Amino acid sequence: MIIAIDGPAAAGKGTLAQNLAKHFKYAFLDTGRLYRAVGYAVLQAGKDPSDKTEATKAAKAFDPKSINQILSNPALREEATGNAASKVAVIPSVREVLLQLQRDFAEHPFFEDGTPAKGAVLDGRDIGTVVCPKADVKFFVTASAEVRTDRRFKELKDAGKPADYDVILKDIKERDERDSKRATAPLKPAEDAYVLDTSNMNATQAYQAALDFIAINHA
Ligand code: C5P
Repeated sequence: MIIAIDGPAAAGKGTLAQNLAKHFKYAFLDTGRLYRAVGYAVLQAGKDPSDKTEATKAAKAFDPKSINQILSNPALREEATGNAASKVAVIPSVREVLLQLQRDFAEHPFFEDGTPAKGAVLDGRDIGTVVCPKADVKFFVTASAEVRTDRRFKELKDAGKPADYDVILKDIKERDERDSKRATAPLKPAEDAYVLDTSNMNATQAYQAALDFIAINHA
């Protein structure tokens, strides 16, 4: 069983994906983290994330066995890393390397301690369209740019980090634009995806709506 969750930045995909994974006891992969890890590695090397050669080299350097350790780096959550991620994500050779990693995970999902799982929840931008086009359930989670900015702003404030509303809104709009307009695997709902607009929902309501959808359509 594979549940694919796509959508723009800060729409609530990650929380929904983790809640569903916990509920069904499936393994979870935040695929954005893979792109973030590549962007981060390029930044750490002092190079430009838009540099095709550097970004591809960083993607190829991943050892799938130490993926959990790589993806748990807290620096991957930073806004600057997210922006670098959306730059490396435009490069087809980077996507190609990461595509294989994601498909391998979907085919043989495993928990953080390495034990195999009977299902997987993957969240990202192109899971329902490219990575797992045959996923059993597909959600496209979205919300207005302003609502997403409010959420990110509050998250940063709550974590005691500096937050500037206008900077976050600009960053979210830039990323939406880059993710939706790129030639390879652009952000868009799969034809058979259930679109969940969370602009007027909290995380619990979005989770409940997703569970209801699964109960009705995949009983
Ligand atoms: O989801 P998150 O904000 O962590 O993703 C960071 C960036 O990685 C996105 O803006 C997007 O450009 C890229 N990404 C992607 N395909 C995915 C997941 C993330 O292109 N499946």
